[in-house]
Amino acid sequence: MHRLFVAIRPPEPIRDLLIDAMDDSPDLRWAGDEQLHLTLRFIGEVERPLANDIADALSAIRFPAFELRIVGVGRFDRRNGGAVWAGVEPRKPVAELAAKVDRACVAAGLEPERRAFHPHITLARYGRRSAAAARDFEQRRADLSSPPFTVDRFTLFESHLSRHGAHYEEIAEFELAL
Ligand code: 2AM
Repeated sequence: MHRLFVAIRPPEPIRDLLIDAMDDSPDLRWAGDEQLHLTLRFIGEVERPLANDIADALSAIRFPAFELRIVGVGRFDRRNGGAVWAGVEPRKPVAELAAKVDRACVAAGLEPERRAFHPHITLARYGRRSAAAARDFEQRRADLSSPPFTVDRFTLFESHLSRHGAHYEEIAEFELAL
């Protein structure tokens, strides 16, 4: 089985800016450079033939390149912990691309995504006793922002989970029209 997701990889200067925004809060488990991404669609575990069909459907997507910028920090707070993330703007083009990616996944045989799309780049995860540290970080970095960057491709990733955390492998890259 292959655990897949579709995401945008921010360019290096933006990843550097995100890494610079991280601090030494001991309760937050920071993402490494290779883990920084904006998920367009989480696919989950699929067999190889379906993975190939998904890749084919994604390669048929036609969508114009667009610009995004980092704006602000937010949190997903769940009972067992959560994630702190960087937000992006504008939401419209990235939401439209995510909807196209979802339609391609459905055409390949997956169920449609039922959860609302919240574009974000996860910066850190935390356990259930560290919500206060996450809230402090969110407040300290509320003014996080970046210059616009061009999104001219998106990527199919395979997630390999281990005791050392998640490792994300690029399976295929899909270009957007310039
Ligand atoms: P997150 O960063 O907000 O946790 C790979 O796991 C990527 O898919 C992560 O960026 C994760 O988002 C996203 N994702 C979305 N839904 C998921 C799910 N049900 N399980 C694991 N990851 C999910």
